[in-house]
Amino acid sequence: MAEHIYPIFDQTLNRQDKEALLKQRAVVVWMAGLSGSGKSTLAKGLERELHAQGFLTQLLDGDNLRSGINNNLGFSEADRLENIRRSAETAKLFLNAGLVTICSLISPTEEIRNLARNIIGEADFCEVYVNAPFEVCAERDVKGLYKKALNGEIKNFTGLDAPFEAPAQPALEIRTDLEDYSASLQKLLDLLLPRIKLCCC
Ligand code: ADX
Repeated sequence: MAEHIYPIFDQTLNRQDKEALLKQRAVVVWMAGLSGSGKSTLAKGLERELHAQGFLTQLLDGDNLRSGINNNLGFSEADRLENIRRSAETAKLFLNAGLVTICSLISPTEEIRNLARNIIGEADFCEVYVNAPFEVCAERDVKGLYKKALNGEIKNFTGLDAPFEAPAQPALEIRTDLEDYSASLQKLLDLLLPRIKLCCC
């Protein structure tokens, strides 16, 4: 597939050079969970807080990516896989540029999340499960999609007629139905700050 392709990875400045410049350590925070579970809200809040603390970040949100680089993809199993593959490859570019990269995508299955994990690399992949039960997400229905899906107007809807497998061993699970926003954000910061601070000693 990569015939007649000559990558120059070995000749480019490396990630450590960029991390030293930015005075931070890069990581990919991969936030998985049902639509309406709170991924984007927490991802936005996390990015703002890290930015305020002097970290250079990049947020990659499923809906945003689907309006650009992934705008030819739907919600079949194959399209979701390709959605995640491209998103993870994009995240890897930001990772290698030294950024704290926050991804918020449903990423509904173990297979899909393993694909992302393998592209990014286990050591740099920090999986967060943003968990709210289907009924709670359907009740919130911020985008009005659950109503449509329950009426049969949207097919292959995650948690309804398309699968959602809970992450088995996430680095962090956040129950957005049980704890408030600031408690959830604090948990994310407690997890990440030790990982992204560059030790100068
Ligand atoms: S993923 O499954 O491929 O990871 P992604 O996070 O990119 O999904 O996109 C999910 C967003 O697409 C949802 O938040 C919702 O706004 C929208 N959406 C539209 N149709 C569906 C569907 N059938 N299932 C889930 N989300 C959908």
